[in-house]
Amino acid sequence: MMRATVYPADPFEFESDAIAPDKSISHRCAMFSVLAEGESTIENFLRAEDTLNTLKIVGHLGAEIIDNGSVITIRSNGIKESSEILDCGNSGTGMRLFCGLLSSAQGHFILTGDEYLKRRPMKRVTQPLRAIGARLDGRNNGDLAPLAIRGASLRSFDYTSPIASAQVKSAMMLAALRSDDVCTFREPELSRDHTERMLRGMGAHIEINGLETKIWPLEKPLSPLNIRVPADPSSAFFFAVAAAITPGSTVVIEGVTLNPTRIEAFKVLERMGANIIYTLTSEKYEPIGNITVKYAPLKAVTVEENISWLIDELPVLSIAMACASGKSIIKNAEELRVKESDRIKTVVDNLNLCGIVTEEYPDGYAVQGGTLQKAVVNSYGDHRIAMSFLIAGLRCGMVVEDIECINTSFPNFFELLSQCSKVER
Ligand code: S3P
Repeated sequence: MMRATVYPADPFEFESDAIAPDKSISHRCAMFSVLAEGESTIENFLRAEDTLNTLKIVGHLGAEIIDNGSVITIRSNGIKESSEILDCGNSGTGMRLFCGLLSSAQGHFILTGDEYLKRRPMKRVTQPLRAIGARLDGRNNGDLAPLAIRGASLRSFDYTSPIASAQVKSAMMLAALRSDDVCTFREPELSRDHTERMLRGMGAHIEINGLETKIWPLEKPLSPLNIRVPADPSSAFFFAVAAAITPGSTVVIEGVTLNPTRIEAFKVLERMGANIIYTLTSEKYEPIGNITVKYAPLKAVTVEENISWLIDELPVLSIAMACASGKSIIKNAEELRVKESDRIKTVVDNLNLCGIVTEEYPDGYAVQGGTLQKAVVNSYGDHRIAMSFLIAGLRCGMVVEDIECINTSFPNFFELLSQCSKVER
């Protein structure tokens, strides 16, 4: 088990075009290419464990993958049965989206993952997929991986999801593309919309009306993707918080998606007092641009809306809350309990170790701003917990144990962190 020590930072300024490419978009690039006729080309694909696992699975499913080091070309001839067990590693996105994709494919498929993924709930996708004819099973009556899928003909659906989850929405949209009629999907709050944007860009017939999405079955294969993956705002946000809590500091993050369903955490940080400037530079599938974040004294905030737009950023936002004046509150975020770790518990326990007063609720927590103190904390195998507490260390010094998980989403995190302060591993 590796550990890292970070030391308190002096004021820093840096500009980076090297933030990890977007994880959600990278997964989708690899998967959606198998529905296209012709060659999809993907530049700046995220070369991290989660997305490389997805790419490998796409290869097992029969796609030809040519990787010249900068561009990945994917040629597909439809989905083929595989003799391999399809290992999604740590990725809930991988497993849930593959459920939607493979439910209608011809053949038998086994999806598995690491010890953490095997504990995460899959019923949110297996249940609505089974209801339309999918033959999909797993432990605990289809809730836990390993999952076994025997492709079947799927019926059209009119489904209202009880949770705002892009993984559920995407799995159902993928199933809809190969069902027998037009399908309707509704969600309680808009979740990230990369699937809609990308599939429409590839020629799928999808109509969106507020929280309701209609998806028509494909009459012909999709057009290939031709995409440069933008930087991941969730990864960029670690460095946004780094600047926001270090007096005199500025970071400029280049080439990041400015998709409104992804930058809500930056908006909250602005509400807390940080200076943030967004500059739109291009638009293809997604609006893309630069984000500049400058230190300013932070004040407490309450976060209780649009939770799915910032769910991944809440752990590191909590570090900003710990450095703010007053008591911040996060509510309506019960989904945090079923992420890579129970992030309500892992954030609260680690903040307490750092001398910060918290209150835990079933659906969130409160953070009383104070003085962060150096501690030895564990990541609980969760990449975002590891990175959040390393960022906290820029303020007070920190030792974080079990840091290998950072490779699931942000392999060059330490290179960038060492532009802010001294780091030892
Ligand atoms: C993701 C959706 C979100 C997010 C995850 C990536 C996606 O999960 O937390 O990191 O790529 O669709 P939910 O769909 O469970 O909200």
